[in-house]
Amino acid sequence: MKLVKLIANLGYGSRKDVAWMFREGRITDVQGEVLYADDKLAHEQILVDGEPLDPPPGLALIMHKPVGYTCSRKDQGRVVFDLLPPRYRMRDPALSTVGRLDRDTSGLLLFTDDGALLHRIISPRAQVAKVYEVELANDLRGDEGALFASGSMLLEAEREPLEPAQLEVLGPRRARLSITEGRYHQVRRMFAAVGNHVEALHRASVGGLVLREELAPGNWRMLAPDEVETIFG
Ligand code: URA
Repeated sequence: MKLVKLIANLGYGSRKDVAWMFREGRITDVQGEVLYADDKLAHEQILVDGEPLDPPPGLALIMHKPVGYTCSRKDQGRVVFDLLPPRYRMRDPALSTVGRLDRDTSGLLLFTDDGALLHRIISPRAQVAKVYEVELANDLRGDEGALFASGSMLLEAEREPLEPAQLEVLGPRRARLSITEGRYHQVRRMFAAVGNHVEALHRASVGGLVLREELAPGNWRMLAPDEVETIFG
């Protein structure tokens, strides 16, 4: 692929913008030699303004989503893409969130530009467990775990019962819930169905990938391929 297209596809600008960046000498090799638009060079040999190029397509990243951000590219308010470099919004193939977390949910959020990987994670058939920590407005009754695990729980206005989910009680109003689906507002609706109300919701893990404390709310980092595989391990 021509360098202009490769760099434009990474979101650095239109092809016209990138052609200008070449003319201005902003695109160099690692020795600082100015590159030309028709040069052929390995991705890792290219610098823009002295910085390595963003990763090529096939990337996956993990974010600690803070409360108050919407999982969308454009919205009136704050969106999770505001927490990434602005050019990540313009990449081709596009970077998307892997499923969504509500605006008022915090925790582990994945992004990828790899459609097959995205599908592998969110498809209910893949049985990837998503674990949520829940704080509730009312004391647990005691029968929620059995109902959630039954495989016959129906949410309001739905025809398909929920897949069995595992509830671990951590306190009178605190629990951990593991689900393998990602229906709309699923966790909040499950607790609403048993007469409760979710006051705080945090996703702690997706499959074997756990959100560690080192990643503070609002921070993100690239995932190495072996870390991506832990999701399915
Ligand atoms: N279930 C919800 O209700 N909200 C989320 O953000 C995720 C799962």
